Amino acid sequence: MEIVEIFLPTPGVMNGAPFEEVLRARRSVREYLPEALTLSEVSFILWATQGISEVHEPLRTAPSAGARYPIVLYLVAGGDEVEGLKEGIYRYIPDRHSLLLLREGDYRAELAEASLGQEHVALAPAIIAFAVEFWRTTSRYGERGYRYVWIDMGHAAQNTYLAATVLGLGTVGVGAFNDEEVAKVLGLSQKEHPAYLMPIGRPSPDAPRSSSWEEIHEYLTRNREGKTTYS
Ligand SMILES: Cc1cc2nc3c(=O)[nH]c(=O)nc-3n(C[C@H](O)[C@H](O)[C@H](O)COP(=O)(O)O)c2cc1C
Repeated sequence: MEIVEIFLPTPGVMNGAPFEEVLRARRSVREYLPEALTLSEVSFILWATQGISEVHEPLRTAPSAGARYPIVLYLVAGGDEVEGLKEGIYRYIPDRHSLLLLREGDYRAELAEASLGQEHVALAPAIIAFAVEFWRTTSRYGERGYRYVWIDMGHAAQNTYLAATVLGLGTVGVGAFNDEEVAKVLGLSQKEHPAYLMPIGRPSPDAPRSSSWEEIHEYLTRNREGKTTYS
């Protein structure tokens, strides 16, 4: 059977909010509107997380120890929840900025079940699932490679958070799940280990919000009264 490949809209300048606004606005969002995501939104978030930003070596948007790139990204899309995509599990191919359809069907509920029943995993239109291949980094750095892979993960996931925020979308890093069950739902190979899940959706009005700059300034002014508590 021929593999279905979807070429994503090519990434480019988004004219988003200033960086400091994005940093301030980022929150973990677990409440989503029942609205589809566009393919451009998904495209931008995938590119921001692991896309190509230097074509000669090539290098990616998130730093990686020794440029070993141990992270493999999957997209779990619900039915009619990402415009232009069938429901299913896709693998992101950074060098082609494309998605390969690996399994057709809506796997969000199974993923939520594997995430100790966290409802936001089932209710988000799509979930970005991070898997890591330790060998890519440990083959060069030995034991220390494990540390580097987790540091790589943090860099990439923060890009996901900020990319979602700049688009006015919400996400949350989900680390509480059963490894074996998530690996099974995603259909991971023996060398891939599930690392993190990030459901993506349009924030509902009851999603948590960041404080205004004014509130932050007032907070800091209040906390500066008296002596420092640092000891
Ligand atoms: C490593 C890690 C694992 C997390 N796992 C979960 C999780 O399983 N479920 C969840 O709802 N939030 C999870 N979170 C999100 C945190 O609860 C959230 O970052 C924290 O409450 C601070 O809120 P903020 O992200 O809005 O600043 C996780 C965050 C990190 C960094």
